[in-house]
Amino acid sequence: MAKTATIDIDGQKYEFPLLTGTENEVAIDIKSLRGVTNGVITLDSGYKNTGSCTSSITFLDGEKGILRYRGYSIEELAEKASFLEVAYLLIFGELPTQEQSVKFHNDIKAQSVVDDDVRKIVDAFPKSAHPMGIISSLTSALTAFNPSSVNVKSEEDMYKAIVKILGKFPVLVAWTLRKKQGLPLDYGDKNLGYVENVLKMMFKQPNEDYVQNQVVVDALDKLLILHADHEQNCSTSTVRITGSSHAGLFASLSAGISALWGPLHGGANQAVLEMLEAIKADGGDTKKYMAKAKDKEDPFRLMGFGHRVYKNFDPRARIIKKAADEVLGDLGIDDPILDIAKGLEKEALEDSYFVDRKLYPNVDFYSGIIYRAMGIPTDMFTVMFALGRLPGWIAQWREMRLNVEPIGRPRQLYIGETERAFVPVDQR
Ligand code: SDX
Repeated sequence: MAKTATIDIDGQKYEFPLLTGTENEVAIDIKSLRGVTNGVITLDSGYKNTGSCTSSITFLDGEKGILRYRGYSIEELAEKASFLEVAYLLIFGELPTQEQSVKFHNDIKAQSVVDDDVRKIVDAFPKSAHPMGIISSLTSALTAFNPSSVNVKSEEDMYKAIVKILGKFPVLVAWTLRKKQGLPLDYGDKNLGYVENVLKMMFKQPNEDYVQNQVVVDALDKLLILHADHEQNCSTSTVRITGSSHAGLFASLSAGISALWGPLHGGANQAVLEMLEAIKADGGDTKKYMAKAKDKEDPFRLMGFGHRVYKNFDPRARIIKKAADEVLGDLGIDDPILDIAKGLEKEALEDSYFVDRKLYPNVDFYSGIIYRAMGIPTDMFTVMFALGRLPGWIAQWREMRLNVEPIGRPRQLYIGETERAFVPVDQR
């Protein structure tokens, strides 16, 4: 591979270094471009060809359907690790020893009490409020109760902020759900595992003991692992660019939650279920929705299909599809929605429109079916995505700050009016 790339502008040649990553990806380092060319920039709407940073956290190969966290394959981690081990791996770079795991969990549990005044904020929301709006606000509000900004140069300060948000966020997730259901808010149980505690906080009824279902615990643990990070996606890029102004960790996470909410991103898992429900209500007529998805005049898209990077099967979708079968089977649930989803997938994978555009099921296509089997309401699906993505966002924010990256400030190509004189209102 050559060491440089050459750009020729009006006969003037400019050379730029070629960088090669550990997985042999190649990037043109254009940081000197504007300076040496007297103002020329690149333009790449949606950053489809543009890297924002170097990173050591997650590698994915969209053509081969590969996803690894810190070098470990998603298949192995989903099968053999716990969510908290994966969180530790993403944030600190190595799988924890047994001792480190115990300490990490204990430090998180020690932070799992949320200031009682946060209840006043929760109570202020109408029951009609979308859970993503609530959880984004509550996460930002944590800054008010934890005003000291994180000193990223202090490992101890950073660690404290990390275990604080990992301890408090599941409480906020449970409170967001229970507020809408008119149920009392509680703090869970320090004697439980991380995922068991999340489920108990979400689903314990005030008048009865909560009985864990190991199938549900294992399924949620796996789903959280599968959602834990995904390199420079929309919401992670939002967390990084927000943090690049030296905004605090909680404020940056709140911004990421808002970006994840969009139906083209994390909000797709809710949109998939709504789409499948509409197809079911329409007598299961998948062909009508396939036609709508292909009709350029129709804004409808086949939600849960397609991906900016994966031009092959999303490896997470493969794992989740298998888990959906297992969980519904173990729970004895026969959900026609799953059959509709499988029928839609089969049709799309045989349809030239989808095949030509390399549109495959993504992480959001089957996840909602499992969440629904767990009794999680549809409008809470993206909150569950955020719960899983939390360690990835933390890891990426920490890497950006430790790398002392400059404030993110893209350029633009101006195509508006050139200079013109002001016109007094009586002459307009
Ligand atoms: C996530 O980036 C990440 O890593 C995200 C994520 C993560 O873990 O963080 O993986 C999570 O967000 C998964 C994606 C969830 N979103 C959806 O399922 C929404 C439906 N999918 C699409 O809107 C779309 O596929 C995107 C947004 C996911 C990707 O869009 P791109 O890369 O901008 O591709 P595009 O819109 O330019 O589409 C290319 C072509 C277009 O047709 P042509 O103009 O070439 O004729 O494919 C078509 C699109 O119209 N197309 C679809 C489609 N997705 C793309 N047509 C119908 N249905 C779809 N779902």
